[in-house]
Amino acid sequence: MALSNLAIDSDRLLSRLKQLGEIGRDGDGRLVRLAASDADKAGRDRFVAWAREAGLAVKVDRVGNIFALWTESENAHEAPLMLGSHIDTVIDAGIYDGCYGVLAGLEVIATLKEARLTPKRPLVVAAFTNEEGVRFSPDMMGSLAFAGGITVDEALAARGTDGKLLGEELARIGYAGSDDVARPAAYIELHIEQGPVLEREGIAIGAVENLQGISWQRITLEGVANHAGTTPMAMRHDAGFAAASVITFLYERAKASASGTVATVGTIAFEPNAINVIPARSIFTIDLRDPDETSLKSHEQALADYLNALEGITVSVERLARFEPVIFDQGLVREIGAAAKARGHTVRRMTSGAGHDAQMLARIAPAAMIFVPSIGGISHNPKEFTPDADLIAGANVLLDVVRTLSIR
Ligand code: GLV
Ligand code: MN
Ligand code: MN
Repeated sequence: MALSNLAIDSDRLLSRLKQLGEIGRDGDGRLVRLAASDADKAGRDRFVAWAREAGLAVKVDRVGNIFALWTESENAHEAPLMLGSHIDTVIDAGIYDGCYGVLAGLEVIATLKEARLTPKRPLVVAAFTNEEGVRFSPDMMGSLAFAGGITVDEALAARGTDGKLLGEELARIGYAGSDDVARPAAYIELHIEQGPVLEREGIAIGAVENLQGISWQRITLEGVANHAGTTPMAMRHDAGFAAASVITFLYERAKASASGTVATVGTIAFEPNAINVIPARSIFTIDLRDPDETSLKSHEQALADYLNALEGITVSVERLARFEPVIFDQGLVREIGAAAKARGHTVRRMTSGAGHDAQMLARIAPAAMIFVPSIGGISHNPKEFTPDADLIAGANVLLDVVRTLSIR
Protein backbone atom coordinates (compact mmCIF):
# COMPACT_ATOMS: atom_id res chain seq x y z
CA MET A 1 0.00 0.00 0.00
CA ALA A 2 1.36 3.43 -0.87
CA LEU A 3 2.14 5.39 2.24
CA SER A 4 -0.43 8.08 1.50
CA ASN A 5 -3.28 5.59 0.96
CA LEU A 6 -3.80 5.26 4.65
CA ALA A 7 -5.54 8.17 6.35
CA ILE A 8 -6.83 9.01 9.77
CA ASP A 9 -10.57 9.10 10.48
CA SER A 10 -10.96 12.85 10.19
CA ASP A 11 -14.57 12.94 11.40
CA ARG A 12 -13.61 11.06 14.57
CA LEU A 13 -10.66 13.37 15.25
CA LEU A 14 -12.60 16.60 14.61
CA SER A 15 -15.61 15.49 16.63
CA ARG A 16 -13.43 14.49 19.59
CA LEU A 17 -11.61 17.82 19.50
CA LYS A 18 -14.96 19.59 19.75
CA GLN A 19 -16.22 17.26 22.49
CA LEU A 20 -13.09 17.73 24.59
CA GLY A 21 -13.37 21.47 24.01
CA GLU A 22 -16.77 21.46 25.73
CA ILE A 23 -15.37 19.87 28.90
CA GLY A 24 -14.40 22.41 31.54
CA ARG A 25 -16.58 25.37 30.55
CA ASP A 26 -17.13 27.75 33.46
CA GLY A 27 -20.31 29.70 34.25
CA ASP A 28 -19.35 32.32 31.65
CA GLY A 29 -18.74 29.67 28.97
CA ARG A 30 -14.97 30.04 29.19
CA LEU A 31 -12.83 26.93 28.71
CA VAL A 32 -10.78 26.61 31.92
CA ARG A 33 -9.24 23.16 32.45
CA LEU A 34 -6.39 23.94 34.80
CA ALA A 35 -4.06 21.10 35.77
CA ALA A 36 -5.44 18.65 38.36
CA SER A 37 -8.76 20.50 38.69
CA ASP A 38 -12.22 18.88 38.50
CA ALA A 39 -12.43 20.04 34.89
CA ASP A 40 -9.05 18.44 34.13
CA LYS A 41 -10.32 15.20 35.67
CA ALA A 42 -13.34 15.26 33.38
CA GLY A 43 -11.11 15.83 30.33
CA ARG A 44 -8.71 13.08 31.43
CA ASP A 45 -11.59 10.65 31.99
CA ARG A 46 -12.83 11.30 28.47
CA PHE A 47 -9.40 10.77 26.93
CA VAL A 48 -8.92 7.55 28.90
CA ALA A 49 -12.32 6.28 27.73
CA TRP A 50 -11.39 6.96 24.08
CA ALA A 51 -8.01 5.26 24.54
CA ARG A 52 -9.69 2.17 26.02
CA GLU A 53 -12.22 2.20 23.18
CA ALA A 54 -9.23 1.94 20.80
CA GLY A 55 -8.02 -1.11 22.73
CA LEU A 56 -5.02 0.68 24.26
CA ALA A 57 -3.61 -0.02 27.72
CA VAL A 58 -3.76 3.04 29.95
CA LYS A 59 -1.00 3.81 32.43
CA VAL A 60 -0.72 6.76 34.82
CA ASP A 61 2.58 7.64 36.43
CA ARG A 62 3.20 9.34 39.78
CA VAL A 63 2.92 12.88 38.40
CA GLY A 64 -0.36 12.04 36.71
CA ASN A 65 0.95 11.77 33.15
CA ILE A 66 -1.42 9.50 31.20
CA PHE A 67 0.02 7.08 28.66
CA ALA A 68 -2.13 5.07 26.24
CA LEU A 69 -0.11 2.19 24.81
CA TRP A 70 -0.42 -0.22 21.95
CA THR A 71 1.96 -3.11 22.55
CA GLU A 72 2.07 -6.46 20.74
CA SER A 73 3.90 -9.52 22.07
CA GLU A 74 6.45 -9.34 19.23
CA ASN A 75 7.43 -5.71 19.98
CA ALA A 76 7.01 -5.58 23.75
CA HIS A 77 10.76 -5.62 24.41
CA GLU A 78 11.41 -2.53 22.23
CA ALA A 79 11.45 1.09 23.40
CA PRO A 80 8.18 2.78 22.39
CA LEU A 81 7.68 5.52 19.85
CA MET A 82 5.91 8.26 21.80
CA LEU A 83 3.43 10.87 20.56
CA GLY A 84 1.62 13.33 22.72
CA SER A 85 1.07 16.76 24.22
CA HIS A 86 -1.25 18.00 26.99
CA ILE A 87 -4.94 18.49 27.72
CA ASP A 88 -4.73 21.03 30.53
CA THR A 89 -5.56 24.56 29.37
CA VAL A 90 -4.96 28.20 30.24
CA ILE A 91 -7.81 30.40 31.52
CA ASP A 92 -10.33 31.17 28.75
CA ALA A 93 -8.54 28.87 26.33
CA GLY A 94 -9.12 27.76 22.78
CA ILE A 95 -9.86 24.11 22.06
CA TYR A 96 -6.75 23.18 20.05
CA ASP A 97 -3.68 23.93 22.18
CA GLY A 98 -2.32 20.57 23.34
CA CYS A 99 -5.58 18.66 22.80
CA TYR A 100 -4.92 18.46 19.06
CA GLY A 101 -1.61 16.66 19.58
CA VAL A 102 -3.03 14.22 22.12
CA LEU A 103 -6.16 13.37 20.14
CA ALA A 104 -4.28 13.20 16.82
CA GLY A 105 -1.72 10.88 18.46
CA LEU A 106 -4.56 8.64 19.60
CA GLU A 107 -6.12 8.83 16.15
CA VAL A 108 -2.85 7.84 14.44
CA ILE A 109 -2.41 4.82 16.69
CA ALA A 110 -6.06 3.77 16.26
CA THR A 111 -5.71 4.11 12.47
CA LEU A 112 -2.61 1.88 12.33
CA LYS A 113 -4.24 -0.61 14.67
CA GLU A 114 -7.43 -0.73 12.63
CA ALA A 115 -5.33 -1.25 9.46
CA ARG A 116 -3.83 -4.31 11.19
CA LEU A 117 -0.30 -3.02 10.69
CA THR A 118 2.01 -4.24 13.43
CA PRO A 119 4.69 -1.75 14.40
CA LYS A 120 8.18 -2.90 15.24
CA ARG A 121 7.97 -1.03 18.54
CA PRO A 122 5.09 -0.14 20.89
CA LEU A 123 3.28 3.09 20.11
CA VAL A 124 2.19 5.33 22.94
CA VAL A 125 0.36 8.62 23.19
CA ALA A 126 1.00 10.73 26.28
CA ALA A 127 -1.13 13.43 27.89
CA PHE A 128 1.35 15.22 30.15
CA THR A 129 0.33 16.88 33.41
CA ASN A 130 0.40 20.66 33.85
CA GLU A 131 1.97 21.71 30.57
CA GLU A 132 0.46 25.17 30.77
CA GLY A 133 1.89 26.05 34.15
CA VAL A 134 -1.00 28.39 34.93
CA ARG A 135 -1.91 26.76 38.22
CA PHE A 136 1.45 25.15 39.15
CA SER A 137 5.00 26.24 38.22
CA PRO A 138 7.04 25.34 36.32
CA ASP A 139 5.17 24.76 33.08
CA MET A 140 5.76 21.49 31.20
CA MET A 141 5.98 19.92 34.65
CA GLY A 142 4.75 16.41 33.84
CA SER A 143 7.08 15.98 30.89
CA LEU A 144 9.94 17.57 32.84
CA ALA A 145 9.48 15.01 35.61
CA PHE A 146 9.15 12.19 33.07
CA ALA A 147 12.46 13.29 31.56
CA GLY A 148 14.09 13.40 35.01
CA GLY A 149 14.52 17.20 35.06
CA ILE A 150 12.84 17.42 38.47
CA THR A 151 12.09 14.68 40.94
CA VAL A 152 8.57 13.35 41.28
CA ASP A 153 8.52 14.59 44.87
CA GLU A 154 9.46 18.11 43.79
CA ALA A 155 6.65 18.10 41.25
CA LEU A 156 4.09 16.76 43.71
CA ALA A 157 5.11 19.44 46.24
CA ALA A 158 4.38 22.28 43.79
CA ARG A 159 1.90 24.69 45.32
CA GLY A 160 -0.78 26.09 43.04
CA THR A 161 -1.96 29.67 42.70
CA ASP A 162 -4.89 28.56 44.89
CA GLY A 163 -2.54 27.25 47.61
CA LYS A 164 -3.23 23.57 46.90
CA LEU A 165 -0.50 20.95 46.39
CA LEU A 166 -0.26 19.18 43.04
CA GLY A 167 0.21 15.80 44.75
CA GLU A 168 -2.94 16.21 46.83
CA GLU A 169 -4.93 17.45 43.88
CA LEU A 170 -3.84 14.52 41.68
CA ALA A 171 -4.86 12.09 44.42
CA ARG A 172 -8.19 13.88 44.82
CA ILE A 173 -9.05 13.58 41.11
CA GLY A 174 -7.86 9.96 40.94
CA TYR A 175 -4.76 10.53 38.81
CA ALA A 176 -1.92 9.91 41.28
CA GLY A 177 -0.71 6.77 39.52
CA SER A 178 2.21 4.46 40.13
CA ASP A 179 2.96 3.10 36.67
CA ASP A 180 6.33 3.26 34.94
CA VAL A 181 6.65 3.84 31.21
CA ALA A 182 9.87 3.08 29.34
CA ARG A 183 12.02 5.86 27.96
CA PRO A 184 10.86 6.34 24.36
CA ALA A 185 12.97 5.65 21.27
CA ALA A 186 11.71 8.96 19.87
CA TYR A 187 9.02 11.57 20.59
CA ILE A 188 6.94 13.50 18.07
CA GLU A 189 4.46 16.21 19.03
CA LEU A 190 1.87 17.65 16.67
CA HIS A 191 0.62 21.10 17.71
CA ILE A 192 -1.00 24.21 16.35
CA GLU A 193 1.62 26.87 15.65
CA GLN A 194 0.05 29.46 17.99
CA GLY A 195 1.83 32.14 15.97
CA PRO A 196 1.32 33.83 12.60
CA VAL A 197 4.14 32.47 10.43
CA LEU A 198 2.49 29.56 8.57
CA GLU A 199 -0.72 31.43 7.78
CA ARG A 200 1.15 34.55 6.67
CA GLU A 201 3.33 32.53 4.30
CA GLY A 202 0.51 30.27 3.10
CA ILE A 203 2.33 27.13 4.26
CA ALA A 204 0.48 24.04 5.49
CA ILE A 205 3.06 22.29 7.66
CA GLY A 206 5.85 23.48 9.93
CA ALA A 207 8.77 21.14 10.62
CA VAL A 208 9.90 22.54 13.95
CA GLU A 209 13.66 22.44 14.34
CA ASN A 210 14.15 24.43 17.54
CA LEU A 211 12.36 26.05 20.43
CA GLN A 212 13.23 29.19 22.31
CA GLY A 213 14.42 29.44 25.90
CA ILE A 214 11.94 30.43 28.61
CA SER A 215 12.54 32.40 31.80
CA TRP A 216 9.69 32.89 34.31
CA GLN A 217 10.08 35.03 37.42
CA ARG A 218 7.76 36.47 40.04
CA ILE A 219 8.80 39.92 41.27
CA THR A 220 7.61 41.52 44.47
CA LEU A 221 8.28 45.24 44.97
CA GLU A 222 7.68 46.78 48.37
CA GLY A 223 7.23 50.51 48.88
CA VAL A 224 5.18 52.46 51.39
CA ALA A 225 1.41 52.96 51.35
CA ASN A 226 0.47 56.59 51.76
CA HIS A 227 -2.22 59.13 50.93
CA ALA A 228 -2.65 59.66 47.19
CA GLY A 229 -3.68 63.29 47.67
CA THR A 230 -1.26 64.57 50.26
CA THR A 231 2.02 62.87 49.37
CA PRO A 232 4.15 64.94 46.94
CA MET A 233 5.46 62.97 43.97
CA ALA A 234 9.06 63.36 45.16
CA MET A 235 8.26 61.87 48.57
CA ARG A 236 6.70 58.59 47.45
CA HIS A 237 7.87 54.99 47.58
CA ASP A 238 5.34 53.85 45.03
CA ALA A 239 5.49 50.12 44.32
CA GLY A 240 2.98 50.57 41.50
CA PHE A 241 5.02 53.14 39.65
CA ALA A 242 8.15 51.02 40.19
CA ALA A 243 6.38 48.04 38.60
CA ALA A 244 5.37 50.17 35.63
CA SER A 245 8.97 51.32 35.14
CA VAL A 246 10.30 47.73 35.32
CA ILE A 247 7.75 46.61 32.75
CA THR A 248 8.57 49.50 30.44
CA PHE A 249 12.30 48.84 30.76
CA LEU A 250 11.86 45.19 29.86
CA TYR A 251 9.45 45.75 26.98
CA GLU A 252 11.72 48.39 25.43
CA ARG A 253 14.67 45.99 25.62
CA ALA A 254 12.67 43.18 24.01
CA LYS A 255 11.45 45.48 21.25
CA ALA A 256 15.03 46.54 20.47
CA SER A 257 16.38 42.98 20.53
CA ALA A 258 17.99 41.54 17.41
CA SER A 259 17.32 37.93 18.40
CA GLY A 260 13.52 38.15 18.63
CA THR A 261 13.23 38.39 22.41
CA VAL A 262 9.66 38.54 23.73
CA ALA A 263 8.67 39.82 27.17
CA THR A 264 5.26 39.58 28.86
CA VAL A 265 3.86 40.66 32.21
CA GLY A 266 0.69 38.58 32.31
CA THR A 267 -0.22 38.95 35.97
CA ILE A 268 0.01 41.91 38.34
CA ALA A 269 -1.50 42.74 41.71
CA PHE A 270 -1.23 45.83 43.85
CA GLU A 271 -1.69 46.04 47.59
CA PRO A 272 -3.75 47.43 49.14
CA ASN A 273 -5.30 48.00 45.69
CA ALA A 274 -7.29 51.12 46.48
CA ILE A 275 -7.87 54.16 44.28
CA ASN A 276 -6.52 56.70 46.75
CA VAL A 277 -3.66 54.73 48.31
CA ILE A 278 -0.13 54.66 46.92
CA PRO A 279 0.62 50.96 46.33
CA ALA A 280 2.68 49.46 49.16
CA ARG A 281 3.34 46.34 47.20
CA SER A 282 3.22 45.15 43.61
CA ILE A 283 3.54 41.53 42.63
CA PHE A 284 3.90 40.62 38.97
CA THR A 285 5.19 37.83 36.78
CA ILE A 286 7.67 38.09 33.93
CA ASP A 287 7.68 35.69 30.99
CA LEU A 288 10.85 36.28 28.97
CA ARG A 289 11.71 34.16 25.93
CA ASP A 290 14.53 34.11 23.45
CA PRO A 291 15.83 31.59 20.90
CA ASP A 292 19.37 32.66 21.83
CA GLU A 293 20.63 31.62 25.29
CA THR A 294 23.31 34.35 25.44
CA SER A 295 20.74 37.01 24.66
CA LEU A 296 18.26 35.56 27.19
CA LYS A 297 20.95 35.63 29.87
CA SER A 298 21.83 39.23 29.05
CA HIS A 299 18.19 40.32 29.43
CA GLU A 300 17.93 38.48 32.74
CA GLN A 301 21.08 40.24 33.96
CA ALA A 302 19.87 43.66 32.77
CA LEU A 303 16.58 43.10 34.58
CA ALA A 304 18.39 42.11 37.79
CA ASP A 305 20.58 45.24 37.56
CA TYR A 306 17.54 47.45 36.96
CA LEU A 307 15.71 45.96 39.95
CA ASN A 308 18.78 46.42 42.17
CA ALA A 309 18.97 50.08 41.21
CA LEU A 310 15.35 50.89 42.18
CA GLU A 311 15.51 53.54 44.91
CA GLY A 312 13.35 53.33 48.01
CA ILE A 313 11.87 50.00 46.96
CA THR A 314 12.64 46.57 48.39
CA VAL A 315 12.81 43.86 45.75
CA SER A 316 12.39 40.12 45.96
CA VAL A 317 12.62 37.76 43.03
CA GLU A 318 11.34 34.21 42.78
CA ARG A 319 12.34 32.05 39.84
CA LEU A 320 9.37 30.03 38.59
CA ALA A 321 10.81 28.34 35.50
CA ARG A 322 13.97 28.42 33.41
CA PHE A 323 14.49 26.35 30.30
CA GLU A 324 17.28 26.76 27.77
CA PRO A 325 16.54 26.83 24.03
CA VAL A 326 16.28 23.37 22.50
CA ILE A 327 17.41 22.06 19.12
CA PHE A 328 15.31 19.16 17.86
CA ASP A 329 16.56 16.00 16.17
CA GLN A 330 17.61 16.77 12.57
CA GLY A 331 16.72 13.30 11.31
CA LEU A 332 13.15 13.59 12.60
CA VAL A 333 12.81 17.13 11.25
CA ARG A 334 13.87 15.84 7.80
CA GLU A 335 11.38 12.95 8.09
CA ILE A 336 8.56 15.41 8.85
CA GLY A 337 9.54 17.58 5.86
CA ALA A 338 9.61 14.54 3.57
CA ALA A 339 6.25 13.23 4.81
CA ALA A 340 4.61 16.64 4.30
CA LYS A 341 5.97 16.93 0.74
CA ALA A 342 4.91 13.37 -0.10
CA ARG A 343 1.35 14.37 0.84
CA GLY A 344 1.65 17.36 -1.50
CA HIS A 345 1.83 19.97 1.27
CA THR A 346 4.01 23.04 1.45
CA VAL A 347 6.38 22.84 4.39
CA ARG A 348 8.96 25.06 6.08
CA ARG A 349 11.38 24.65 8.94
CA MET A 350 10.63 26.89 11.88
CA THR A 351 11.24 27.84 15.50
CA SER A 352 8.63 27.32 18.18
CA GLY A 353 7.80 30.41 20.19
CA ALA A 354 5.69 28.45 22.67
CA GLY A 355 6.94 26.00 25.24
CA HIS A 356 6.05 22.36 24.62
CA ASP A 357 6.44 18.96 26.24
CA ALA A 358 8.70 18.07 23.29
CA GLN A 359 11.38 20.35 24.71
CA MET A 360 11.49 18.21 27.85
CA LEU A 361 11.37 14.91 25.99
CA ALA A 362 14.31 16.13 23.87
CA ARG A 363 16.46 15.63 27.00
CA ILE A 364 15.99 11.86 26.84
CA ALA A 365 15.11 10.98 23.24
CA PRO A 366 15.30 12.28 19.68
CA ALA A 367 12.33 14.66 19.48
CA ALA A 368 10.68 16.98 16.98
CA MET A 369 7.39 18.75 16.34
CA ILE A 370 4.91 19.28 13.53
CA PHE A 371 3.01 22.58 13.36
CA VAL A 372 -0.17 23.49 11.52
CA PRO A 373 -1.35 27.09 10.97
CA SER A 374 -3.15 29.17 13.59
CA ILE A 375 -5.48 31.69 11.99
CA GLY A 376 -4.41 35.22 12.89
CA GLY A 377 -1.62 33.70 14.96
CA ILE A 378 -4.03 33.70 17.90
CA SER A 379 -3.69 31.29 20.82
CA HIS A 380 -4.29 31.21 24.59
CA ASN A 381 -7.54 32.85 23.56
CA PRO A 382 -10.97 31.36 22.76
CA LYS A 383 -10.56 32.71 19.20
CA GLU A 384 -7.76 30.18 18.62
CA PHE A 385 -8.65 28.50 15.31
CA THR A 386 -7.18 26.11 12.77
CA PRO A 387 -9.27 25.08 9.74
CA ASP A 388 -10.33 21.43 9.65
CA ALA A 389 -8.36 20.76 6.46
CA ASP A 390 -5.14 21.87 8.17
CA LEU A 391 -5.89 19.75 11.25
CA ILE A 392 -6.46 16.72 9.04
CA ALA A 393 -3.33 17.42 7.00
CA GLY A 394 -1.17 17.63 10.13
CA ALA A 395 -2.59 14.40 11.56
CA ASN A 396 -1.96 12.55 8.29
CA VAL A 397 1.62 13.81 8.20
CA LEU A 398 2.02 12.52 11.75
CA LEU A 399 0.52 9.20 10.63
CA ASP A 400 3.05 8.88 7.81
CA VAL A 401 6.01 9.81 10.03
CA VAL A 402 4.94 7.26 12.65
CA ARG A 403 4.46 4.68 9.96
CA THR A 404 7.90 5.33 8.49
CA LEU A 405 9.56 5.18 11.91
CA SER A 406 7.75 2.17 13.26
CA ILE A 407 6.41 0.02 10.47
CA ARG A 408 8.83 0.00 7.57
C1 GLV B 1 2.82 27.13 26.95
O1 GLV B 1 1.69 27.20 26.45
C2 GLV B 1 3.65 28.30 26.88
O2 GLV B 1 3.47 29.18 27.74
O3 GLV B 1 4.43 28.41 25.94
MN1 MN C 1 0.39 23.56 24.14
MN1 MN D 1 -0.52 26.65 25.83
